[in-house]
Amino acid sequence: MRSARHFFQPLAVGAPPPPRDIPVRPSRMIHFFDPSNPKMTAKVPEIAKKVDVILGNLEDAIPIERKEAARNGLVAIGREVEFGDTQLWTRVNSLDSPWVLDDLIQLVTGIGHKLDVIMIPKVEGPWDIHYADRLIAQLEARVRLTRPILLHAILETPSGVANVDAICAASPRLQGLSLGPADLAASRRMKTTRVGGGHPGYVVRADPDPAQPETARPAVQQDLWHYTIARMVDACASHGVLPYYGPFGDISDAQGCEDQFRNAFLLGCVGAWSLHPSQIEIARRVFSPAADEVRWAVKVIDAMGDGSGTVMIDGKMQDDATYKQCQVMVGLARMLAAKDPELRVAYGF
Ligand code: GLV
Ligand code: MG
Repeated sequence: MRSARHFFQPLAVGAPPPPRDIPVRPSRMIHFFDPSNPKMTAKVPEIAKKVDVILGNLEDAIPIERKEAARNGLVAIGREVEFGDTQLWTRVNSLDSPWVLDDLIQLVTGIGHKLDVIMIPKVEGPWDIHYADRLIAQLEARVRLTRPILLHAILETPSGVANVDAICAASPRLQGLSLGPADLAASRRMKTTRVGGGHPGYVVRADPDPAQPETARPAVQQDLWHYTIARMVDACASHGVLPYYGPFGDISDAQGCEDQFRNAFLLGCVGAWSLHPSQIEIARRVFSPAADEVRWAVKVIDAMGDGSGTVMIDGKMQDDATYKQCQVMVGLARMLAAKDPELRVAYGF
């Protein structure tokens, strides 16, 4: 662990100082596209206007023979397209792959001034963040970037989950973590074949009724990802890093997707990945607080004055802690409303 005195110093001579605080910007949906696919890349300028984050994916889902085309395609898009207030992210190949070194060199030196965040997959521990941190600092210095590129780790190995606190603490440029349920399931040897979501076999069943042992016992499906998401949210919140649900692979199941995203939102996540245009609207709906909740929160804040003591509103007790919850809700709503005029009207700002 670097000493507190050195923690915010650049890791390479000439690199920009790392951020003191992670900028909190709208990132309800991180929309993935394949930069090696000309049909998809042609749509990037239009899709970028509809999302908070657009991400050029170089890792899984890109066939080996198109890895270089994806990298080159992303550099070209980054140079040509103006993204406005939409963030441009990438997911590079894993740190043990033959592509990641060139991914980082070419992206940072080619479009580092446009790239907001680099997502590192299959992070096992703080040592992976340290490696990427130093290398990116050297590349930033080489092209004289003045604004540091941020890092995002995918939580998709058992070792990554076990080391999640240390990963969050590894670098001041760590912006966020995403749950990677597909790789995590495989590497944990979970017996599932899905990308995120629940499983009908993962249930808790009511005890048998001794008076009627033959009657059916109700069972309720549980959330396979609850533990990991809660673990991730605590690690992120204690280090000023942002947590995200990752991908939901069953594009045809809009309701299942919405439920998983909403569970993550309620537990503290700020966004999720969208793998298909249909998931963009789901993420926008879920990760923007509901208008009635926001109006309620404004009412509580107004009634609480300096935020101390208690007041009763509609029969519900409010105190310092509910005041703080309401501030979280209103703070998020104000940030999103500044970008989204429809939300501004709905929230009454
Ligand atoms: C995402 O990368 C996942 O493995 O779920
Ligand atoms: Mg993965």
